[in-house]
Amino acid sequence: MSLREIKLCLLGDSGVGKSSIVLRFVRDQYKDHVESTIGASFMTKHLVVDDNTYVFQIWDTAGQEKYRALAPMYYRGASAAIVVYDVTRECSFPAVKDWVRELRHNVPGNMVVAIAGNKCDLTELREVRTEDAKQYAEDIDAIFTETSALTAENIKELFESIARRLP
Ligand code: GTP
Ligand code: MG
Repeated sequence: MSLREIKLCLLGDSGVGKSSIVLRFVRDQYKDHVESTIGASFMTKHLVVDDNTYVFQIWDTAGQEKYRALAPMYYRGASAAIVVYDVTRECSFPAVKDWVRELRHNVPGNMVVAIAGNKCDLTELREVRTEDAKQYAEDIDAIFTETSALTAENIKELFESIARRLP
């Protein structure tokens, strides 16, 4: 039994559901109307995975363009990043590639990167194919999952797979 602290940050366009994912994971809650994050917000959560206790220190960054320059303050020193897009908004996917590129340039190679296609409950509105996103994640050796903060699908599993992937 060990206790490990994991500094983690969430990145991605405004409105993709970063804060909603964190709210679901930390408090098991969901809100229809979430205020757009200003700067960043911080939360912690304990999670037991395979007999080890992980303390996630979560930086939920703001997706709005005007806050973009703040992101390095949150991803520097982080051991994991979740890059989120919205499966119902194709235009939120190129930003994933931009963030991955930025992380590759600015953080050490052992950072665990996870790509999460959120809002997978909105099946009728889907614009990003699972296979395309999955293939991209494989190419860059990232964890891939599709999540729903609304139904809680794959939210806990996402954090569990990050914990298991840590060096
Ligand atoms: P910024 O803070 O501006 O960067 O946005 P964000 O990425 O934190 O998005 P936020 O969590 O504020 O979610 C934006 C909107 O999407 C909210 O109105 C949520 O209710 C909705 N939303 C978030 N996750 C889901 C989901 O899994 N399914 C559905 N249907 N809606 C979601
Ligand atoms: Mg937010």
